[in-house]
Amino acid sequence: MIQQEKMKISSHREIASQIFELSLEGELVNEMKQPGQFVHLRISESIEPLLRRPISIAEIEHRHKRFTMIYRADGKGTRMLSHKKAGETIDVLGPLGNGFPIERKKGEKALLVGGGIGVPPLYELSKQLVKQGVEVFHVLGHETASKVFYMDEFSSLGKTYVATVDGSLGTKGFVTDVLDQEDLSFDCLYSCGPMPMLKALENKYPAIEGYISLEKRMGCGIGACFACVCHLADDPSGTKYRKVCSDGPVFKIGEVMI
Ligand code: FES
Repeated sequence: MIQQEKMKISSHREIASQIFELSLEGELVNEMKQPGQFVHLRISESIEPLLRRPISIAEIEHRHKRFTMIYRADGKGTRMLSHKKAGETIDVLGPLGNGFPIERKKGEKALLVGGGIGVPPLYELSKQLVKQGVEVFHVLGHETASKVFYMDEFSSLGKTYVATVDGSLGTKGFVTDVLDQEDLSFDCLYSCGPMPMLKALENKYPAIEGYISLEKRMGCGIGACFACVCHLADDPSGTKYRKVCSDGPVFKIGEVMI
C-alpha cells in the first residue's frame, strides 16, 4: 500500500563523483516488497522545487525498517537533497510502481544490465534473486571510473563486469561491448538505464525473456497526471499507452515503445 511518511535519514554520503547514497528509516519500509519500485521525495517543504523527485529503491532492509537510495545530484532538487544530514527527515511517498518480477527457478541464470543511475535498483533485485538460488551476472556501464559505485557489493553477489565510456575502468565503451566480448548465457535479462542502452539490448536479445525499467520525467508519480506515458509497441493506431509511474516502471521487453 502506498504511504506518505516523514522518514528519518540514518546515513547520507557521497559514494562516487556526484553520486550519493541515502538511507532512510520508517514504517513505510514495511510496504516495500518488489525490487524496482521507487519513492517520490519532497525535497523542500517551503521553497522551490515543490515537485517531488522520483528515486529508485536500491536496497530494502526490513529488519531495520530501513531502505537505501542512490541518486545523482545533477539538478536543483537533487543538489538540495545532497545537503541533508543524518537525523533530518524527508517526506516520502511510496513505494510506487511495479517492479521486477523475480519468480525464478533455483539454478537459473539471470543477466542484470545497468547504465549510470539505472544501476541502483539492480542491487536489491540481485540480492533477491541470489536468495532464491539464481546465479546472477552483472554488466554495469558508467561514464568514467570516478562515477562507478557498488562494485564490491555487486561482486559479492555474482560475477560483475564494468564498462566505462572513456576506458578508465573495465572495458572501454558500453555495456553492449562487454556483452559482445563475453558471450554470456542466461535464462532471463533484467535492465535499467538510458533508453539507447535498453533499445540496444532489445535488439540484441529479441527472443529472450526480459524486463526493463524505464526512466521518465514524472509529475504525480501515482498515475493521475499523464506526464509519463509511453506507447504500446504492438499498436499500429498509436493510441494505446501505459503510464511509467503506475503501470511500470518495469515492463516486459517488447511491450512498450522505447
Ligand atoms: Fe503522473 Fe505518471 S507521473 S501519471
